[in-house]
Amino acid sequence: MAGSILSATSHLNISPLKFNHTVDDKWTGRYMQKSKLFHLGHSAGYRVRAKAMSSTDAKAIQIPRQWYNLVADLPIKPPPFLHPGTHQPVKPEDLSPLFADELILQEVTNERYIDIPEEVVDIYGLWRPTPLIRAKRLEKLLDTPARIYYKYEGVSPAGSHKPNTAVPQVWYNAQQGVKNIVTETGAGQWGSSLAFACSLFGINCEVWQVRASYDSKPYRKLMMQTWGAKVHPSPSSLTESGRRMLQTDPSSPGSLGIAISEAVEIAAQNADTKYCLGSVLNHVLLHQTIIGEECIKQMEAIGETPDVIIGCTGGGSNFAGLAFPFIREKLSGKINPLIRAVEPTACPSLTKGRYAYDYGDTAGMTPLMKMHTLGHDFIPDPIHSGGLRYHGMAPLISHIYELGFMEALAIPQIECFRGAIQFARSEGLIPAPEPTHAIAATIREALHCKETGEAKVILMAMCGHGHFDLPAYEKYLQGNMVDLDFSDERMQTSLADVPKVVS
Ligand SMILES: Cc1ncc(COP(=O)(O)O)c(C=O)c1O
Repeated sequence: MAGSILSATSHLNISPLKFNHTVDDKWTGRYMQKSKLFHLGHSAGYRVRAKAMSSTDAKAIQIPRQWYNLVADLPIKPPPFLHPGTHQPVKPEDLSPLFADELILQEVTNERYIDIPEEVVDIYGLWRPTPLIRAKRLEKLLDTPARIYYKYEGVSPAGSHKPNTAVPQVWYNAQQGVKNIVTETGAGQWGSSLAFACSLFGINCEVWQVRASYDSKPYRKLMMQTWGAKVHPSPSSLTESGRRMLQTDPSSPGSLGIAISEAVEIAAQNADTKYCLGSVLNHVLLHQTIIGEECIKQMEAIGETPDVIIGCTGGGSNFAGLAFPFIREKLSGKINPLIRAVEPTACPSLTKGRYAYDYGDTAGMTPLMKMHTLGHDFIPDPIHSGGLRYHGMAPLISHIYELGFMEALAIPQIECFRGAIQFARSEGLIPAPEPTHAIAATIREALHCKETGEAKVILMAMCGHGHFDLPAYEKYLQGNMVDLDFSDERMQTSLADVPKVVS
């Protein structure tokens, strides 16, 4: 083990967060008309500032001014993160070598709503509100009575939901005077989002990209470089964690867990460098709730209520971003949708993993988090959904899964790409490989509705486009895609290395 980041000492100098419990009166305005496609929220031609809009207009779609923290409404709070050495709950100051102070506070806060900084709202305005689209042509293709809607995050500069958290993470770091930020990336979506955000604030960005996607997605690397970032394949020989992995397996395809170890190691060793994570942590999920907050308003505007909400899960952030605000509404008794996470059969942390304290990275440098895990040294097979190749699930999602607030299923990649092709040929958009899992699960549900005759409203998280993932489509179209088996035996070997925590 390369040594815990928590052995670094540092003192926090944190200003109190400003919280506000009212959400509705804090929304800025953007006015969107509903197009024939129920395409709410993006058509730039319809954008008009709030001032010009009637406050009673039912179709007013606005950028939310606060993020929502589900923890505040949970009857049982999630278990704390533990120090890997002492197994005692981590203190905020333990995390300060890695993260900006405000982000640490957001990580542990019980406040229900957190104000979004003005400058962040302004940058969100480059692509938000994102569209909520009714997939009428897919419904027709499937001949289903279900009504299918998708919330499309692919309109952001990087092409996915990831800038929703990259921008505030970099903003808080910039406020603190941080000059260098490091991170990992799986699919390249997170790395490019962070590179984009860093370019806005003049901060140096260095990214460890999982080898499998570094090789298969050269354009993601070029996007990061265009936004000014330095990109390394992971495992790399630049870090102790990477070198150790390369010794064991010189042709390792890498994994998110290894790439996290490399970035964390660099941040822990350099006082002028902080680390940002693209998923898993509470503050990341928090920032993504902008998706669900917006979507609630959009669904209200068209008089729809979801019966089923579906999203893919890697570390869980796009799923949480859409689902958590709806879970708040469910907990308050207003609606009662089923909440369904979809993961790859090759990396089934929720459906097959153990709910236990484990490290967030392969080398064991992060705090211990209670989550569904396949074991921190489990290296998933190189499926095309690089962003879903993570051994663990967000602790907050794991917790509510244990509480029975949601369900999960795993789907193999060929079925996912079959669904993506149906989606592309009916709706036009070419999805990123990750949300093909949500599409496949949506198609299953819609076909089930066809059998039962139920006209359910299905809401799906379409978290990114696949314009730089076309080699995966080529594989599928040429009939060369295979379903990669999940090895229970390999998981058991990895789980044997999960630390024993007496709770
Ligand atoms: C487009 C896209 N969707 C989903 C994910 C999975 O991450 P999360 O579960 O945090 O949304 C990724 C991760 O890289 C991604 O790039």
